[in-house]
Amino acid sequence: MSAANYSTQGAVAVITLDNPPVNGLGHELRNGIMAGLDRALADAAIKAVVLIGAGKSFSGGADIREFNTPKAGAEPTLHSLIRAIEASPKPVIAAIHGVAMGGGLELALACHYRVAAPGAQIALPEVKLGLLPGAGGTQRLPRVVGVETALNMIVSGAAVPSERLKSSALFDALLDGDLLAGAVAFAGKLSPEKPPRLVRDIPIDYPNAEGFFQFARTMVATVSKGYPAPLKCIEAVAAAVSKPFEEGLAIERELFLQLMQTTESKALRHAFFAERAASKIPGVSEDTPIRNIRTAAVIGAGTMGGGITMNFANAGIPVTVLEVKQEALDKGIATIRKSYEASAQKGKLTAAQVEERMGLIRPALSYADIAQADIVIEAVFEEMGVKEGVFRKLDETMKPGAILATNTSTLDVNAIARFTRRPQDVVGTHFFSPAHVMKLLELVRGSATAPDVLATVMALSKKLKKTGVVSGVCDGFIGNRMIDPYARQAMFMLEEGALPQQIDAAMEKWGMAMGPFRMADLAGNDVSWYIRKRRYLENPQLKISRIADRICEIGRFGQKTGAGWYRYQAGKRDAIPDPAVEDLIVAYRKEIGVTPRRISPEEIVDRCIYALVNEGAKILEEGIALRALDIDLVYLTGYGFPPFRGGPLFYADTVGLYTVARTMNRFATNPHGDPEFWKPAPLVARFAAEGKSFNEAGRVP
Ligand SMILES: NC(=O)c1ccc[n+]([C@@H]2O[C@H](COP(=O)([O-])OP(=O)(O)OC[C@H]3O[C@@H](n4cnc5c(N)ncnc54)[C@H](O)[C@@H]3O)[C@@H](O)[C@H]2O)c1
Repeated sequence: MSAANYSTQGAVAVITLDNPPVNGLGHELRNGIMAGLDRALADAAIKAVVLIGAGKSFSGGADIREFNTPKAGAEPTLHSLIRAIEASPKPVIAAIHGVAMGGGLELALACHYRVAAPGAQIALPEVKLGLLPGAGGTQRLPRVVGVETALNMIVSGAAVPSERLKSSALFDALLDGDLLAGAVAFAGKLSPEKPPRLVRDIPIDYPNAEGFFQFARTMVATVSKGYPAPLKCIEAVAAAVSKPFEEGLAIERELFLQLMQTTESKALRHAFFAERAASKIPGVSEDTPIRNIRTAAVIGAGTMGGGITMNFANAGIPVTVLEVKQEALDKGIATIRKSYEASAQKGKLTAAQVEERMGLIRPALSYADIAQADIVIEAVFEEMGVKEGVFRKLDETMKPGAILATNTSTLDVNAIARFTRRPQDVVGTHFFSPAHVMKLLELVRGSATAPDVLATVMALSKKLKKTGVVSGVCDGFIGNRMIDPYARQAMFMLEEGALPQQIDAAMEKWGMAMGPFRMADLAGNDVSWYIRKRRYLENPQLKISRIADRICEIGRFGQKTGAGWYRYQAGKRDAIPDPAVEDLIVAYRKEIGVTPRRISPEEIVDRCIYALVNEGAKILEEGIALRALDIDLVYLTGYGFPPFRGGPLFYADTVGLYTVARTMNRFATNPHGDPEFWKPAPLVARFAAEGKSFNEAGRVP
């Protein structure tokens, strides 16, 4: 079966691109289009050809299912198809609706005419994968929409609605009504005497080009640190202006191939795939039935409960919030309203939308009011006794089949499940703060969690516009379990000679959105203090610097108290280095008898990141994470890990695990080093010896 359908309407051949969901230009579809074109050319009765997409769009570009497979480069390639269309003596008309993106738009640009439905999204988003459009997009788009618009579109990758490009030469007509009928009528009116017109032949007249490109380079260089693609996009578009078409195409090709080889593009493509792959859960087949989530309930209207409630309301799902006391309930609802109103003031929501969302939120003090909810998410205090009370009550009151979820960050989800007589319905849904903003949602699979419950919360995460990643049960799950050794290394470096601002600066320069100390001040030092105290009791052998305790003992909990590892001015979030903290650190070093040494930014980065990597390897080997990419995704979406580095394990792969293991061994011998900490995890040691990488190896059996 071909992915392109051929039909005729009078003297017009219609080739329908039919490769759901977005008519990705996979091999079969490319073959089908080529065959359709040949058939039309061979038929003397046919005077013109219309290319149109089945379903909701023209074409979303390359078929991502084909990436990294031989089919991606198999003939006919997109380049061959484009050449064949350009060479066609009969005019080819692209009829665009929905989306024309990437290769889809490049295909349309090779056609002799383009007509579009209003509201079609037009984009060349390759830059988002660290690439540039490699099938003529950088050469043809400037010829039809102008150099500046084209450059903006190519450098940003942003989609532009077809109406905004209405007056450009991109479209010969914007058609209301039935697109196919309109396109066929348009084709029928083309004069047979007029030779087909090609975008490549449109001259570019741009007198001030050099000044403009210089300005663009300066602007883009400042905002694209760590990302080579945007500057290469400028070079490619500059070639469209300064070189003959074929030379420009060759330059585009060369730049594209260079970008394909960059670590940054490989990292971005890894992240792109990870995002799609994470929803595929080994052991949970794709046809697992999903429980219907029409209504939700949240227990606890505090920091997290409030944010979680907003997620449901934002997705249009009615949600009931339950608290024990009226006062706490009122406070929680008022905080939600305030948050929505702040969004409205910033112009992100209309007043009507605020009311609509508030209208979906129902306050409650009684379990009877939530009993019929399809899912309930518990977000009460992080104490097992409190959770027990809640889950016993839920077990008594919730309707059969309701999903009982907990937002716990550190407690044992299996133990929580055992408070009920339906552990198969219990699952962890670990949101990150602020819950209505952060993309990451760890889905914690208990030993009894039913496959359909897991599949349902994974589907729900998409509805809530979150990135769901499955984690097994362990202390801290994937993300926080890894952050613990990371933070411990940061603390040891304070003891050894660095200051919080030096460590943060090194990590931020490397690409982290926030260094460990700024992050701790934001999250609240009291939270980790509370967790540490438990850990001291559980594992007295664990080597943990006590320096953070000192900060907490004098009430420096972070931004919320105006002082933490930094000091803060009232109402501001700027972290100001504080000599009082330096004094405290210096005194502490004396107390423990450490002579400070200078720690280089490279050592800071390696120690923090390899601490993540080593723990990540253990998490992978234990099966807590299903795949290396799940761990990477957790860090990319929940911890401000730089996308151009692809996540901690992908980054370790790019360094090479042999080198990573050697560096760990070196850290073990540091003065004041911790050989136990730096023992490479068995998986790191094995892969280092075998020359393997985490991401090639996939899930470890
Ligand atoms: N704050 C974070 O950054 C964060 C991040 C992820 C997960 N979590 C987890 O989310 C949960 C809630 O944390 P939080 O920061 O929102 O706490 P919080 O103290 O801000 O809110 C807890 C709320 O639960 C209410 N509550 C307490 N007992 C209750 C009961 N029996 N029934 C109904 N309501 C009850 C309290 O009145 C309070 O409003 C905890 O398990 C925590 O570990 C927190």
